[in-house]
Amino acid sequence: MPKIFVSRTLPPRAQALLRSQPDCIVVQWEGEEPVSSDRLLQEVKDGVDGLLVMLTEKIDEELLDAAGSRLKVVSTMSVGLDHINKPACQARGVLIGNTPDTLTAAVAELTIGLLIATGRRFAEAARAVMTGEWPKWSPLWMCGSQISGKVVGIVGLGAIGVAIGERLRGFGVASIIYSSPNPKPTASASISATHVPLPTLLSTSDIILLCCPLTPATRHLISTKEFAQMKPSAIFINTARGPIVDQAALVQALRNGTIAAAGLDVTDPEPLDPSSDLLKLDNCLVLPHIASATLETREEMARVAVENVLAGVRRRPLTAQVL
Ligand code: DGY
Repeated sequence: MPKIFVSRTLPPRAQALLRSQPDCIVVQWEGEEPVSSDRLLQEVKDGVDGLLVMLTEKIDEELLDAAGSRLKVVSTMSVGLDHINKPACQARGVLIGNTPDTLTAAVAELTIGLLIATGRRFAEAARAVMTGEWPKWSPLWMCGSQISGKVVGIVGLGAIGVAIGERLRGFGVASIIYSSPNPKPTASASISATHVPLPTLLSTSDIILLCCPLTPATRHLISTKEFAQMKPSAIFINTARGPIVDQAALVQALRNGTIAAAGLDVTDPEPLDPSSDLLKLDNCLVLPHIASATLETREEMARVAVENVLAGVRRRPLTAQVL
């Protein structure tokens, strides 16, 4: 019987689906914390046909070598793939499955929420209430910036970027521009977005939303030079991956007023050290990578991840196959 190692307890319905397979042996890590890399290595050395992992597990050459030719599929309960060495999987004929589409709405909703919270200074304002620093109503106290009438720049126009654009249209934005290695006529037409080079996007946008995957090409895509190109009034939002941004450069940009504010759902590293300079800044709001964290979405992500791993070990087409 094929053996599957699952690196975490899954949401209830997906967990039941996983456990109801009579023709598979399922070994599962049940700790609250991620499985250690040593333990994961040991599990694959013992022999597995399929792996169902989270974005916390690194699937690198060492692990794939240890797994050997028995491993048929790596299914990740994420859309992001930066924790998986894709070429190494491809070279060994190991399929990769992920969970696209399942989290598009949840991430788009959180991105808009984070944008509003950042632009309208929710955290700072709530802190003022709690610390007794709430003065009498005053014309300019806690003024932030609104979405309507603004130029929005989306870096990376995949399904999530489009979903954010659709929602932002309802806020009456002035225009939406996007940057990506190549123009995406179909995706951009649905939100009337214009393709521009990244420097144009950075210098023209009032709101900048990072929505691209983390790859070798996008690591530190946004650093000192890029922040310097932005407007001093720019609101910068990252719900993609922390390492796309040079975090030290971001701290400087926020401190010096190079940009107005940042809202981050992702950081580098994660979890962020509580002593991080980012957390000392009033104009930065940090969330703990919760963009996809709705019960509905996490159930869907887990369902697709289970389907992918089961299909892979049974040598059938995956529900969502990357490679
Ligand atoms: C993903 O699926 O890549 C998300 O970052 C998880 O929240």
